[in-house]
Amino acid sequence: MQRVTARAGANIALIKYWGKRDEGSNAPATPSLSLTLDQLTTTTTVTRLSGASQTIRDTFSINGETLSGKGADRLRRYLDLWRNEGLIEGPFAVSSQNSFPTGAGLASSASGFAALATALAAFSRKPLSKRLLSQLARRGSGSAARSIPGGIAAMPLSDDPAAREIVPADEVPWGMVIAEVESTPKAIGSTEGMNLSRDTSPYYTAWLATARRDYKAMLGAVKALDFTAVGELAEANSHAMHACMVATRPALLYWNDVTLRVLHELARWRKAGTVEAYATIDAGPHVCLLARREDLDRVLNLASKLPGVARARINLPGPPATVLEVG
Ligand code: PMV
Repeated sequence: MQRVTARAGANIALIKYWGKRDEGSNAPATPSLSLTLDQLTTTTTVTRLSGASQTIRDTFSINGETLSGKGADRLRRYLDLWRNEGLIEGPFAVSSQNSFPTGAGLASSASGFAALATALAAFSRKPLSKRLLSQLARRGSGSAARSIPGGIAAMPLSDDPAAREIVPADEVPWGMVIAEVESTPKAIGSTEGMNLSRDTSPYYTAWLATARRDYKAMLGAVKALDFTAVGELAEANSHAMHACMVATRPALLYWNDVTLRVLHELARWRKAGTVEAYATIDAGPHVCLLARREDLDRVLNLASKLPGVARARINLPGPPATVLEVG
């Protein structure tokens, strides 16, 4: 086998991961729970390069552009982790296509590392369980662990956590409208941001305690398929994470004026009985609107009309990360 193509969906956390328990193993300091998306995907082809790893180096490209510098170093270190664990051997060429903007706070690292780990697993010398694969994806990016099972996935707090499926994609009665807001690539990456919050935000400890409480309550709400409870918890949890971020010094202020406009409109829609939807926001200005499947068209219509929303699209719950082709 020389070449493997795998695909994974991005996921949006309904209970957020922000903070690391251990940087070496990339174990999160908060438990998290997410919905995988079917339209925001990364498709990655991994090709074995012939020759000794001492002379030939791994190569990386995203959307047809060769990756160099820090981005390539991070991926090379990730392949080193697999080589050091004795799972793979030799150099590889990795080529990824994202169906959405990279590095702009739309969870591209989640789908990216989940697709890469899934493709690498096909080259593995020993069989990897789903649990181990999720743990390995987490080593690349914490949120990537949750894109391995797909659907609604939960990752508990532990020294070496993996995400597991809570509700399979086709049984989740909700979806999301992603309202993309005009933005530039992030100035501060998530690891640096999390460390800054830990070191300087006066609300960091309160955030960790809140996340743990919210996670427990969310597991109950999701299992009961109680949409209102899920939406209210998700929105409150996202706001609590952003409060911790904004209080970081220097401030991690990911929202802009359009983000706020969407939040105010959303509250108006709920109050007026126009539609029941809830917001959750990652480390960027985009707003992810959670709604019942039957309300997604209406939310799309409303969100697309808001000034400053560059693009809005419907995402249904996405499947687990999968191998598409082996050659
Ligand atoms: O997985 P990372 O390192 O990209 O961090 C993800 C952080 C958030 O997107 C803000 C929250 C989350 O749980 O996905």
